[in-house]
Amino acid sequence: MNINSQYQCILVTGGAGFIGSNFIRFLFEKVNYKGKVINVDSLTYAGNLENVADIADEYGGSQYFFEKVDICNYQAVDAVFGNYRPDCVIHFAAESHVDRSIHGPKDFIYTNIVGTFNLLEASRRWWDGDYDARRFHHISTDEVYGSLGETGYFYETTPYDPRSPYSASKASSDHLVMAYYHTYGLPVTISNCSNNYGPYQFPEKLIPLMILNMVDEKPLPVYGDGKNIRDWLFVEDHCLGVWLVVNRGKVGQTYNIGGENEWTNIDLVNRLCEIVAGKTGKSRDFYKKLITFVKDRPGHDRRYAINCDKIKKELGFAQTVDFTQGLEKTVDWYLHNTEWVSRVKSGEYRKWIETNYLQR
Ligand code: NAD
Ligand code: DAU
Repeated sequence: MNINSQYQCILVTGGAGFIGSNFIRFLFEKVNYKGKVINVDSLTYAGNLENVADIADEYGGSQYFFEKVDICNYQAVDAVFGNYRPDCVIHFAAESHVDRSIHGPKDFIYTNIVGTFNLLEASRRWWDGDYDARRFHHISTDEVYGSLGETGYFYETTPYDPRSPYSASKASSDHLVMAYYHTYGLPVTISNCSNNYGPYQFPEKLIPLMILNMVDEKPLPVYGDGKNIRDWLFVEDHCLGVWLVVNRGKVGQTYNIGGENEWTNIDLVNRLCEIVAGKTGKSRDFYKKLITFVKDRPGHDRRYAINCDKIKKELGFAQTVDFTQGLEKTVDWYLHNTEWVSRVKSGEYRKWIETNYLQR
C-alpha cells in the first residue's frame, strides 16, 4: 500500500489495546513505515502487551519503543515528548467500554478528558508554534452524534448529542482538540468511527464475547429486544482510514469512518452462531438456543449509521474487508489463539506482561 508519510516519529497512545495494537501492526506490516513508533500505554485491564509481542520482538529498540505511562500524569507525558520528540501523535488511549462507563464513569472523565488535555498541552509546549509537518490526530467515535431513528445517517456536520458517560467524555475530548486548533493553531485532525471488530478485541465487547461464550457453551446475552443497530467495520480498515487522515487529511477537519454495514444485534449474533457452527461441527441451532434476552443497557442508543462519503471522496478511502470475510477471520483468530484467550479470560495476561515484558 503506497501512502506517503512525512512523519519520522509517531507517538501512538493506547497501543496495547485493541485498535491501537492493530494500528501499530498495520504501520509495520501493511504500510512498511520506516520511522519510529512510541507506544504510550498505562496497561489498564484493556491493555495487553501480548497484543504487540511480535512487533516488539521484531522492531523493539530500533523502530518500536514502549513507555508505560498514564496519560493523566502530565509530567510523565511531557518526559516522553522530551525523550523522543515525536512529530506526530495518534491518540487512541481511552476508557472505551460503554457498560463500564455506566457502572463507573470516573476513569472515563480522567483518561478521556484530562488525558487528552495533557497530550494537547505537551504537543503545544514541545512543538512551540512550529507546526509545519506536525500532526495531532484524535481517534473518536460515532457515539458522540447520539442515536438515530430508523432512517438517516451521521455526517461530520451532525450536532453532538452524546448520551452515555463514555460518549460524553469522548465528545468533551473532541471539543478540546478542536479548541486547540482554533485557539492555538495546533495542527489537529479527528476521525469518528463506527463499531470495530477483529483480532485482539477484549472479550467484553459484543463480537468476541459471543464467540467465546459459544466456545464455552455459555448463554449469549442480548440486551433488550436485540433490534439495536450498529455499523460494523473490520479493524484494519479503520487503521487504513486513520492513516489516510493523518497523511492526507486537512488540518482542523473531522472525518467519519464507517463500514456502511448495518446489523441488528440479534441478526449479527445469529450470523455468528452459523459461522461458529461451521467451524466446530456443532449445529447452528445448538448455539442459537444459547441466545438469552437480558435487561437492556440504560440509555441504550438505538441505531448508529455513518456516512463516510467525505473520507472516500477526499482521501480515497474504501473498505477492503467485507463482513463475511471479516467475521470468518475474527472467529478463526479467537478459535486458534487459545493461549491468548485463556490468559485474558483468567486474568493471567497481567502476570504474562510482568514476566515477559516489564522485567526485560
Ligand atoms: P481498548 O479499551 O481496547 O484500548 C484502550 C487502550 O488505552 C488500552 O491499551 C489501555 O491500557 C489504554 N489506556 C487506557 N487508559 C489509559 C491511560 N490513562 N493512560 C494510558 N493508556 C491508557 O480500546 P479500543 O477499542 O482499542 O479503542 C481505541 C480508541 O478508539 C478509543 O479512543 C475509542 O474511543 C475509539 N473507538 C473505538 C471503537 C471500537 O469499536 N472499539 C470505535 C470507534 C472509536
Ligand atoms: O460505535 C463505536 C463504539 O462501539 C465505540 O466508540 C466503543 O468504544 C465501542 O465499545 C463500541 O460501543 P458499543 O456499545 O456499540 O459496543 P458493544 O460491543 O459494547 O455493544 C455492541 C451492541 O451490542 C450494543 O448495541 C450493545 C449490545 N450488546 C453488547 C454486549 C457486550 C449486547 O446485546 N450484549 C452484550 O453482552
